[in-house]
Amino acid sequence: MGLLGKALRDAMELARAMKNQRPEDGGAPSLKEAVKVALSQDGYKVLLMSRVREAARRYHVPGVNHALRLVTTVLYSIEIGNDIELGEGINFTHTLGTVIGGTSKVGSRVKFMGNNTIGTAKDNGCPVIEDDVVIGCGARVLGPIRIGRGAFIGANAVVLTDVPPGAIATGIPAKIHVRRAGDPEVDDGGRPSNGNGTAAS
Ligand SMILES: CC(C)(COP(=O)(O)OP(=O)(O)OC[C@H]1O[C@@H](n2cnc3c(N)ncnc32)[C@H](O)[C@@H]1OP(=O)(O)O)[C@@H](O)C(=O)NCCC(=O)NCCS
Repeated sequence: MGLLGKALRDAMELARAMKNQRPEDGGAPSLKEAVKVALSQDGYKVLLMSRVREAARRYHVPGVNHALRLVTTVLYSIEIGNDIELGEGINFTHTLGTVIGGTSKVGSRVKFMGNNTIGTAKDNGCPVIEDDVVIGCGARVLGPIRIGRGAFIGANAVVLTDVPPGAIATGIPAKIHVRRAGDPEVDDGGRPSNGNGTAAS
């Protein structure tokens, strides 16, 4: 998919999140809603610059990747490394203080609440974060671990082990609280209905 296509899909996913909808809910946000998100959300601008960086790397355009990395760091205090794979519609609710480094992989619609670190624990590999994960403010996710789809990482947690899909991880080092089917916050698909909405920034 080309740069424009990716940028549009990102805006659509973020607009959907604003309405607290998920792709499986069906329907699509209007172009007007997507443009509104694109213009109003700092997180979208970071994502857009990441898409341009990806394209610059793919087509070996010198300097752009490095320059835009600096721009996002200076303007938004967020640092996204060169080898990061970002899914669609990543939601940087607050951009301040977030670092995604090394070879981390981030799925679609993952929500970063701000001041998060995703990277290596002891130079031993980086996390894979699956789709629809929410990462609370101040949380660190470190090492060659997998955060399962729809998991919720609590504020200020330091996560050093795998987190199963839909589970909650809190504390230092993080303890896992597995949500059971039938819990009010678990929907029929076994995923938490913690919402992936975009907080006002
Ligand atoms: C983890 C979180 C999702 C709550 O999950 P929950 O399952 O609904 O948890 P509850 O509120 O029922 O609390 C369950 C227990 O976990 C504790 N707890 C909740 N959040 C915690 C956290 N971040 N760290 C440590 N313990 C936490 C509660 O004190 C409670 O402890 P207790 O059983 O000893 O009384 C929420 O507290 C959180 O951290 N949200 C992130 C919010 C955020 O980042 N906001 C940013 C806004 S910009």
